[in-house]
Amino acid sequence: MWEKNILITGGAGFIGSHLVRLMVNKYPTYRIICLDKLTYAGNLKNLTDVDNAPNYAFVKADIVDAEAMKSVFAEYEISDVIHLAAESHVDRSIEGPMEFVMTNVVGTVNLLQVAKDSWKGDDHVFHHVSTDEVYGSLGEDGLFEETTAYDPRSPYSSSKASSDHFVRAFHHTYGLPIKISNCSNNYGSHQFPEKLIPLMINNIVNNKPLPIYGKGENIRDWLWVNDHASAIETIFSKGRIGESYNVGGLNEWTNIDLVKYLCRLLDKKLNRAEGESEKLITYVTDRAGHDMRYAIDASKIEAELNWKPSLKFEEGLEITVDWYLKNTEWTNEITSGSYRDYYDTMYQNR
Ligand code: NAD
Ligand code: DAU
Repeated sequence: MWEKNILITGGAGFIGSHLVRLMVNKYPTYRIICLDKLTYAGNLKNLTDVDNAPNYAFVKADIVDAEAMKSVFAEYEISDVIHLAAESHVDRSIEGPMEFVMTNVVGTVNLLQVAKDSWKGDDHVFHHVSTDEVYGSLGEDGLFEETTAYDPRSPYSSSKASSDHFVRAFHHTYGLPIKISNCSNNYGSHQFPEKLIPLMINNIVNNKPLPIYGKGENIRDWLWVNDHASAIETIFSKGRIGESYNVGGLNEWTNIDLVKYLCRLLDKKLNRAEGESEKLITYVTDRAGHDMRYAIDASKIEAELNWKPSLKFEEGLEITVDWYLKNTEWTNEITSGSYRDYYDTMYQNR
């Protein structure tokens, strides 16, 4: 009955929920099956606007559970996978790498195995969503290209690099029709406030210290989450099998400049005196093994698939800040309880 049955893993997370929304609305003849373990980072409230769509289904399951994956593939006749489920936070991977190995490596191999055993013929896609962190850290110049050698340096990026290698190995060894995308730092609504931008917004709003790691000179290349979702949709529908595509914003900021920009924006939005929020900036002990600079060369996806970011960073940041100011309940709910323990562990003695 459905033209395709697309499994989106990690669909209740930050990027996944934006992608699920895009796919459900854009493809009414495809059934979108959102699968998520609902860890601390997964939240069904991210998906309330698609809950009742006829082409949407939700399954709570762990990708590490092979039997559960087999049943989902059989019950929903899964034709394609867009795989985002992962442990995604670098700082948490430094505190405890094993969860990252389990979900990001073992979970990915599980899914690959089930897809390989279930699919006959070529009319399938296994799209693996990965990160630019697999390429390591850049100096002052240069950009990550698809041909840049892998050089992961944190437990998180090592687990993602390993999963990328397994995805490619399943293509080369078994002919599984795969695609990989490697994206730079995302920002936008519904991002868990452990990541830089939502953490800083939340702390500015609540007049709490703004913890800058080291000197704040590390550089990230920021992309609006909806632009990442549209890049994934573009690669999934038009990209070549067996290929990798880098996705990024050509939008490099040092952490300190970005946090100062957020302070100025929020001073205006909160009717504070100019410079008031900046007083909250506190330099803290650096992240262990902190990668200096990430920056993406996205010319392949632009030339081949005609994809480009749609928004300027300043526009995207304002939309994001407005969303957090309007949705304080969403943030308050997830920052009570275990988030407080997390925050204390990470920041109290830093
Ligand atoms: P997130 O942490 O917000 O969401 C991850 C989701 O995966 C959550 O809903 C969680 O419940 C789910 N999940 C975790 N373990 C699972 C398991 N064992 N089984 C099933 N579901 C599980 O992450 P995000 O920022 O939305 O990132 C999504 C993907 O995109 C990840 O693979 C990440 O590596 C990649 N990525 C993220 C960024 C970024 O800037 N956030 C950039 C590039 C790539
Ligand atoms: O590059 C893509 C990656 O971007 C994704 O694969 C990851 O899933 C995602 O978490 C992100 O990783 P980063 O480590 O770059 O993101 P994070 O938001 O944790 O940190 C961004 C920068 O801000 C980094 O240089 C560390 C710094 N930072 C972060 C936090 C949370 C601070 O200075 N203070 C903080 O409190």
